[in-house]
Amino acid sequence: MKTIKDIDIKNKIVLVRVDYNVPLKNKKVENNLRVRASLPTINYLLEHDAKKIVLISHLGRPEGKENPEFSLKPVAETLQKLLKTEKVGFYPLDSKSLDSFNERIILLENLRFDPGEEENSPEFIKDIIDSTKADLYIQDGFAVIHRAHASTDAVKKFLPVYAGLLLEKEVENLKKAIEKPEKPVLVIIGGSKIEDKAPLIEKFLPIADKIIVGGKIAADGYKPKSEKIYVAEDFDEDASGAKLDVGPLSTAKIAEAINDSNTIIWNGLLGKAEDSAFATSSIITAEVLGSKSDATTIICGGDTTGFIENLVETHKKLSYSLVSTGGGAALEFLLGKELPGLKAIKD
Ligand code: 3PG
Repeated sequence: MKTIKDIDIKNKIVLVRVDYNVPLKNKKVENNLRVRASLPTINYLLEHDAKKIVLISHLGRPEGKENPEFSLKPVAETLQKLLKTEKVGFYPLDSKSLDSFNERIILLENLRFDPGEEENSPEFIKDIIDSTKADLYIQDGFAVIHRAHASTDAVKKFLPVYAGLLLEKEVENLKKAIEKPEKPVLVIIGGSKIEDKAPLIEKFLPIADKIIVGGKIAADGYKPKSEKIYVAEDFDEDASGAKLDVGPLSTAKIAEAINDSNTIIWNGLLGKAEDSAFATSSIITAEVLGSKSDATTIICGGDTTGFIENLVETHKKLSYSLVSTGGGAALEFLLGKELPGLKAIKD
């Protein structure tokens, strides 16, 4: 996979596909993980004297129509704050002659305001390339590479696609976890939908030394098919007797298993963690995992990464090898599915 490190950036106009599909609340970015995660590539391009950096992304599912609710404007403001001195411009999707605009960094409005993005329309992405006069195309939107859209797939017809630093980091860490993980390997699976998690358990059965199942799946009585799988056996309950969190005995077993492992992959919360009364097992797991500096620790799945991000805000000492920005993309990658956005990257 060719990355930005393989190409000459100097004086080039670089079009960068990022994934700024972030949660918004009252027109403000609620969690900026994906924006922060795009900074290494942006800074690399600045340091290597790119002439202009044009960022493109989607946000939400506006279904091919302009809708202010899904505007990327709040994201442009967040990016501006994070980049501090470098000025960020924010322009409509159909802007012309973007190469002549003042700012060195430009974010375009939501790609999905045009139906061409999701229809994988070559004309749509060609118009953007033409209006920016882009010399290079960087794919850094790891979280969207499972979609065959104009900015992930059709673009390869017009420009060679190179991987950005975030995409490279995500792919390398996830690949290592399935191809040559340092043993012992522990996989912790939580969440509520067994139909989503069963394929993941199957996939990791030959790879992992131990799989621990918690969350609603365990509370609903998941039956393990292998001795390698440990299903949480005690639960914290609400007044009606609903099992809403993994209990202390099983949580202690999770902590012990983490300490005994060299590669740990965690997907899915262990309890109904949005309710602080039932977040204990997820918090303890996150703390034990985030304090283990001598292992590869990978967190993936939208709910789990959001939870970790909030926790890290107050527990600054916790750190992980990878808090994946990809929800569906990370899962499809781990399951070995072909990802159009990855396939489009130049070998
Ligand atoms: C995500 O958040 O998983 C990606 O940005 C993809 O979004 P989508 O599921 O709307 O295609």
